[in-house]
Amino acid sequence: MIERTLSIIKPDATLRNITGEINSLIEAAGFRIIAQKKLILTLDQAKKFYDVHVTKPFYNDLCEYLSSEPVVVQVLEKENAIEEYRQLMGATNPANAVEGTIRKSYAISIGQNSVHGSDAVETAAKEISFFFSEVEIVG
Ligand code: CMP
Repeated sequence: MIERTLSIIKPDATLRNITGEINSLIEAAGFRIIAQKKLILTLDQAKKFYDVHVTKPFYNDLCEYLSSEPVVVQVLEKENAIEEYRQLMGATNPANAVEGTIRKSYAISIGQNSVHGSDAVETAAKEISFFFSEVEIVG
């Protein structure tokens, strides 16, 4: 089934100018980037986006980090896109990521782990609509 997932290229990656390298891996893996924009989130927006983690000890650091520098948000489309993008990203902690994944190649730490991807169908729909209106998504 063709799915859409929300991807974020995080500040550690945009700062190192590797958005294009990450997009090359995404496209080589067969995803279509059907929406994309670069922005700087406010702290409040980052807190809203990550509200599922509000009780976690790393929540404040995570939100401050995500709103610290530009991010690139994008909608990816592919067969089974949600799970396939999680495979392509690799483990949240780059120490556990396997060879060939984005995080193995580029992530600095569990916090500065270069990319985010939605974890389920409902989350993907919610996260996509957080950043994009329908007219901004070109399938
Ligand atoms: P992401 O996939 O964007 O989802 C939530 C983020 O929280 C995750 O990537 C990590 O960057 C971050 N995160 C998860 N666990 C920890 C942790 N133990 N310490 C710091 N950050 C974490």
